[in-house]
Amino acid sequence: MRSSRRLERIPPYLFAELERKIAARRAAGVDVISLGIGDPDMPTFEPIVAAAQRAVANPSTHSYPTNRGRREFREAVAAFYARRFGVELDPETEVMPAIGAKECIFNLNLAFLDPGDVALAADPGYPVYTGGPLLVGAEPVLMPLEPDRGFAPDLAAIPREALERTRLLYLNYPNNPTGAIVADGLFERVVELAAEHEILAVHDNAYSETTFDGYVAPSFLQTPGAKDVGVEVFSLSKGYNMTGWRCAAIVGNAGAIAQYWRLKSNIDSGLFEAVQLAGAAALGPELDVHVKGMNEIYQRRRDLVCDALVQAGVEVRRPKGTIYVWAPVPAGFESAAAYCEHVLEEAAVVVSPGDAYGPSGAGFFRISLTAPDDRLLEAVERLRSL
Ligand SMILES: Cc1ncc(COP(=O)(O)O)c(C=O)c1O
Repeated sequence: MRSSRRLERIPPYLFAELERKIAARRAAGVDVISLGIGDPDMPTFEPIVAAAQRAVANPSTHSYPTNRGRREFREAVAAFYARRFGVELDPETEVMPAIGAKECIFNLNLAFLDPGDVALAADPGYPVYTGGPLLVGAEPVLMPLEPDRGFAPDLAAIPREALERTRLLYLNYPNNPTGAIVADGLFERVVELAAEHEILAVHDNAYSETTFDGYVAPSFLQTPGAKDVGVEVFSLSKGYNMTGWRCAAIVGNAGAIAQYWRLKSNIDSGLFEAVQLAGAAALGPELDVHVKGMNEIYQRRRDLVCDALVQAGVEVRRPKGTIYVWAPVPAGFESAAAYCEHVLEEAAVVVSPGDAYGPSGAGFFRISLTAPDDRLLEAVERLRSL
């Protein structure tokens, strides 16, 4: 069956490939430890599940949702942003639910890019920042994140010609896949650049609640002027163990959100309202203790993995946020992909190759901390003994 040329322009989605390989090994009886995908291994916090159970039993959630979102959800997101970030949002115009950050980010490409337009994408970065623009016939232009710049892009290095065609800019801190936190002054420089070139800045805030060592991640919208030029996509997936629920919100610039709403009213019928009510419950202050407990677990796992890697002679930075450790590929392998293939073949451990997130990820691999301590330790032990 011939697909569209648009679809042919993008590579197969990394994790679809990985899942196929893992399933084949497991079917052959191999004990595979999968640290490839960033999918929390712990259940959604109990009060969220209880709120969802009540919401599912409430017939008012059973009809088509509105894309605009249920008032309770919009107000809960606004209250959370005020409490957590000191950011004031108008729940009427500056908040809307999304069916996960992935849906939202992809659809922003449809809403804002025409063929010939450019989206600036962090490299390495979440694959939708590049796949999305390609799928809508536009052009992703990469902004390399260099380790010695703290994984911040060099905005001054973006080619002038590309800037003139740029409509969207994607950033994400705490960062997947590098684990980096936002560099001082970066958000301010992004606001300036976006204002000068009439770019919509999109901050993908998937990991602000997952931080360690006392670090508290900011919202992009705390930056003066950010709401004039940007939106933030806040996902409940990782911080609240809710990846399966598909619950996120787009917040910030009211004009951009209105366009996203207009687009979505032609594409989908919104987020199940029971999920919206569960999301509203998740964002209340009484859930903070659960988030904190989860962060203690991830911090312990991070230390366990980093200590073992350091002992094995791998120079690794201890991330202050996210659920990933970003480590250099050992010498002797021609690429990250070759190393990851070797690790899967010889140690039955799945880690993801850095260049799957963009060419600047070459030379690194990503370990996801979403497995119990004993499995993580065993995985690192298997890597060490290779
Ligand atoms: C940076 C980043 N953005 C977005 C997502 C997807 O979030 P959601 O589950 O809300 O679609 C992920 C998931 O891995 C991610 O790492």
